[in-house]
Amino acid sequence: MIVCRSPKRTLSVLLTFFVSTLFAQRSQIITIESQHNVIALQVGNDLRVSTAYFGTKLKDTSEYRFVRPMYKRGDDYSGILNSAYTPAGSRNLVEPAIEVTHANGNTSLDLHFVSSAVEKTDANVSVTTILLRDSAYALEVSLFFKVYYKEDVVEQWAVIKNKEKGNVTLQKFASANLYLTADQYWLKQFHGDWAKEMQPEETRLTAGIKVLDSKLGTRSHLYQPPTFMVSLDKPATEDEGKVLLGQLEWSGNFKVDLEVDPLNNLRLIAGINPFASEYALKPNQQFETPAFVFTFSDKGTGEASRNLHRWARNYKLYDGKGSRMTLLNNWEATFFNFDEPILAGLLKDTKKLGVDLFLLDDGWFGNNYPRNNDRAGLGDWQENVKKLPHGVGFLVKEAQNNGVKFGIWVEPEMVNPKSDLYVKHPEWVIKQPNREEHLYRNQLVLDLSNPKVQDFVFGILDNLFTKNPDLAFIKWDCNAVIYNAYSSFLEKQSHLYVDYVKGLYKVLDRVRAKYPTVEMMLCSGGGGRVDYGALKYFNEFWLSDNTDPLERIFIQYEYSYFYPAISHSNHVTDWGKQPLKYRTDVAMMGKLGFDIVVSKLSPKDLEFAQKAVKTYDTIKNIVWHGDLYRLADPRENSYASLMYVNESKDSAVMFNYITSNRYGNGSLSPIRLKGLDAGKKYKVREINIYEEPRVGKRPNNSYSGDYLMTVGYNPGVSANRMSVVLQIEEAR
Ligand code: GLA
Repeated sequence: MIVCRSPKRTLSVLLTFFVSTLFAQRSQIITIESQHNVIALQVGNDLRVSTAYFGTKLKDTSEYRFVRPMYKRGDDYSGILNSAYTPAGSRNLVEPAIEVTHANGNTSLDLHFVSSAVEKTDANVSVTTILLRDSAYALEVSLFFKVYYKEDVVEQWAVIKNKEKGNVTLQKFASANLYLTADQYWLKQFHGDWAKEMQPEETRLTAGIKVLDSKLGTRSHLYQPPTFMVSLDKPATEDEGKVLLGQLEWSGNFKVDLEVDPLNNLRLIAGINPFASEYALKPNQQFETPAFVFTFSDKGTGEASRNLHRWARNYKLYDGKGSRMTLLNNWEATFFNFDEPILAGLLKDTKKLGVDLFLLDDGWFGNNYPRNNDRAGLGDWQENVKKLPHGVGFLVKEAQNNGVKFGIWVEPEMVNPKSDLYVKHPEWVIKQPNREEHLYRNQLVLDLSNPKVQDFVFGILDNLFTKNPDLAFIKWDCNAVIYNAYSSFLEKQSHLYVDYVKGLYKVLDRVRAKYPTVEMMLCSGGGGRVDYGALKYFNEFWLSDNTDPLERIFIQYEYSYFYPAISHSNHVTDWGKQPLKYRTDVAMMGKLGFDIVVSKLSPKDLEFAQKAVKTYDTIKNIVWHGDLYRLADPRENSYASLMYVNESKDSAVMFNYITSNRYGNGSLSPIRLKGLDAGKKYKVREINIYEEPRVGKRPNNSYSGDYLMTVGYNPGVSANRMSVVLQIEEAR
């Protein structure tokens, strides 16, 4: 919604319901509202735009103007600390959102309000645009706020336009510049490494700037994702507290500045990392930043993450409302050691297990430099004739003969120096011309800023699909970071980090335009590159190579704040010491897959796995499309408990695991369920049982939602009952 004195309404034919525009007026408030929240921007007497208020909506919108009067503490601060998009080089002396050098070499910027407009695309989605212009130079900045009303989610980005006569250089070009007010600020950030993704750390922000960033180029979120939470006043819990969940939708270098300012407010600036990335704009060129997506809740992290999940499923994740295929993957089962007969056997096992698809992993390509280990072959995407004498086509047919689908692994952005591609196109490789090569997993990164490389990468996928139209699944991996950043294609080296990601998205756009129905998994040696910029193209992501189910509970738990279960690729493997049932239960909290040697399963394990796939079919829609409620955090208990509830609240599944054996206690008391209908009656039944009977039969009672949510239900996990899955169905 927008406060407008003289709205100009335009009704357009299809998408745009109406546009209202507001021209330069001093001293007014512009409100950007979702169902429960608001950003109230103030256009000052000096036409500078600042944040008056951020948070839960007030009933009377006219009162936002009282929140942050223009002259709170002298002229020094007014409209500067709380600038809606802080320009560098004029009055501002704090961390900027934008820093530029004009065509004449001048480095000052001062942005003034020109107009604002609201475009409603449907009943739920609207975009507010604020147009700003420098008072002395022909440089424009448009701030965009795309509001998903029901989900309480906002995507914010900026477009910077050079209307000067010569080139303008952007030194910093953030997506969003928020301003929050509270007594204290608590940052929950995540760090990690290979097989250790999403390690949370929560700290109080103190005066000064805390920076979250990446400079890795590709696989850019290996040590730190662009994903975080900020709680206001005190750390939010699952059901209480004010909390913002945010992420930059960008699969490259990012930077988030969290600055507690002299007035004890929090300046939050998120965008592409300006490190080694100054960007030149020719006259009339514009730069569009990626979006910073955030949601805010005053009811804790549970509600905030459910809102983000709904937004992701409805608007962002590729085919977020669709379905997914269960699968058998051969990576852990064979690594690089396979041939046609072995794969033919695995295709039979796929059928035997009852999953939908077989996924052939790394090692199927390269001839002069066969991919028999990770030291050779990347770049040469022709079937290895020794391993696959009849090609991928034969396997796709063989899969069909077995009544299953076929998918394949690629790592198209990469090259091993031991490859034909490297010999033929050294100029396509990112490396410094006069320095020694530095490899990561024995490989280098291809220069996706180069359109010829984009064509090559698209061609890898396109060839596979053209030859094998029935190919149903792609696992897209990315295992290296960018060392020695240098492109022999680009004139301006400082464009490489940005143009690489843009090039990647161009390729993915082409893949999706031509192959809209193929299921794609995003992988980066695990979760080394997970963000909503990429998930726009991918149905799911590989959370971590760490599939030890105990570790996995912790990893999945933290990812679950940001990504819905339908996007989590979880495989049952031989990692960890837990029994097959435990491993399977953990993998069921997402998109279930297996990466085990089916032929080596004991008859009992095989029978269990086959039944588990069938059981999963009965609950997968609740897990994929339902609401997630985290009931017990394994970091605070000796067990973990999570449940998914369908929209009509008549079906739910509750997953419970023992996560520490220290006292062998498990869940001694009932765990309170959430998200049910208090007035409904439910039957609770254990499912995915390994061997019946596991414990004495429980009474076949019906419980009200009220009872289950107030008193709770004890799943009885213990050292002897390590994991328990309960189905909660409305009693009719
Ligand atoms: C990465 C992936 C694994 C597997 C290997 C293959 O490490 O995360 O799942 O595909 O590459 O080399």
